[in-house]
Amino acid sequence: MKSILVVGGAGYIGSHMCKYLSRHDYHPIVLDNLVYGHRQAVKWGTFVRGSTSDSGLLRKLFADYTIEAVMHFAAFCYVGESVTNPAKYYENNVVNTLALLEVMVEYRVSNFIFSSSCATYGEPVQIPIREDHPQKPINPYGKTKLMVEQILEDFRGAYGLESISLRYFNAAGADPDGELGEDHDPETHLIPLVLETALGKRPCIEIFGENYPTKDGTCVRDYIHVEDLAQAHLLALERLFNGLPGGVYNLGNGDGYSVKEVVEIARNVTGKPIPARVVEKRPGDPAVLVGSSEKAMDELGWRPQFPDLSTIVKTAWNWHKDNPNGYGG
Ligand code: UFG
Repeated sequence: MKSILVVGGAGYIGSHMCKYLSRHDYHPIVLDNLVYGHRQAVKWGTFVRGSTSDSGLLRKLFADYTIEAVMHFAAFCYVGESVTNPAKYYENNVVNTLALLEVMVEYRVSNFIFSSSCATYGEPVQIPIREDHPQKPINPYGKTKLMVEQILEDFRGAYGLESISLRYFNAAGADPDGELGEDHDPETHLIPLVLETALGKRPCIEIFGENYPTKDGTCVRDYIHVEDLAQAHLLALERLFNGLPGGVYNLGNGDGYSVKEVVEIARNVTGKPIPARVVEKRPGDPAVLVGSSEKAMDELGWRPQFPDLSTIVKTAWNWHKDNPNGYGG
């Protein structure tokens, strides 16, 4: 059984990845400092508490285990906070990632899968966004992801560290078996907030602006199921194991849903009224973010299993209903 180091494996996407890896006969070794991750979400493989800033710990991990590849999910991801506290983002998302890559080079571990983001594109000039779209991120979060992509290109050339950067659109949904879900503190993402409103934990969902140049005036996003992201990671990993070149791939469904459509779908899925009110725009929100993932389909053989937004919301709702306090009990 091959061991894969899953950095940030106690987080939302990382924990789903560990379940998926384990189902496909890999042994996940989770490294997570639990700043945002949840110990209860680590149910597969081995757990090590720690940070990528601890090079001594990383060296010990690479010495103790035969690690065939690293998947890196451990980034801070609050776009707004990255604007007010960029140092925190450059430190964790770039400096700590660089430290991890240096130890990988030292131990000759040469396969790396990186969680990048559509935030690296900035304001889209063309929809759907393809991988060759200009990358001009408009916030420090997006810049940190782009910097790591660039570091990876240079590490490939200089040290032979092969990598695939996966640019996610809007990760959503939960484990179809209901064992894992999305639990951020604070929560800022639309679908969990809508579902917390359905549960009565919030009085209403605030819609950030309704005069965007879109079908109903609210922002349009491309929601992609978290298990479909996991599938893409495994395909990317196997591509590297097969000796094929790395690169960058978008991961989205290619369908755009407005904020109002998401709320309406959630009303249908939950059977709850979900009160909504329109408030000011949130700074830095592009009107439309929809990606083309043809490259991932052609080259990785990626086939999303949960492309329908109702199904995505339903998987999230099942988890929220059963875990109204998230992993907190
Ligand atoms: N929204 C609301 N009300 C809310 C929360 C969100 O109207 O209470 C809207 C946002 O304005 C946006 C849409 O719902 O139009 C989706 O917002 P999310 O915060 O769920 O997701 P984002 O599209 O802002 O962000 C996602 C990822 C980021 C990533 C970004 C790329 O969460 O990590 O895509 O732009 F950086």
